[in-house]
Amino acid sequence: SNLAVAKIGIVTVSDRASRGEYEDQGGPAIQGYLSEILTSEWKPVTRIIPDELSTITETLKELCDQKQCCLVVTTGGTGPAKRDITPEATLAVAEKEMPGFGELMRKVSLEKVATAILSRQTAVIRGGTLIVNLPGQPKAIQECLDAVFPAIPYCIDLLE
Ligand code: MTE
Repeated sequence: SNLAVAKIGIVTVSDRASRGEYEDQGGPAIQGYLSEILTSEWKPVTRIIPDELSTITETLKELCDQKQCCLVVTTGGTGPAKRDITPEATLAVAEKEMPGFGELMRKVSLEKVATAILSRQTAVIRGGTLIVNLPGQPKAIQECLDAVFPAIPYCIDLLE
């Protein structure tokens, strides 16, 4: 309902963070960024999960369909390594692809680091939810969100 506080999913995709081998930095970086930029009330729904296709798709579906998040931001698993499958999982739950997000984030990131070309990050629509992939590095999170955030509230409005 309109009275509910907007929920935003924050999903850290990392084998090592999910096993507690290191502290998740990506999730808190996204939460900190959103806290600075958002003026209306919102509630984070956070998850830290391994790089497993079925775990990622089930988590994305839960946050979109059950939790009804307006936005889900993932961090990690977008590179070329064998275990990096976040974009595949994102596309597997997609109703529409939003390729402009990945294109713009890579363009902006490439101005900073040549390795930005290694991220396969994308964005999709599922129901009333926009899902956006970010790389794992906290610095990348800031750079990518600076680039695409201006378009996100309008995109979500168009889904209602
Ligand atoms: N984008 C920005 N803005 N800054 C970065 O440091 N790192 C790149 C790339 N995109 C990076 C970036 C690197 S080294 C990789 S391997 C890919 O993101 C994928 O990262 P991920 O597997 O953590 O998602």
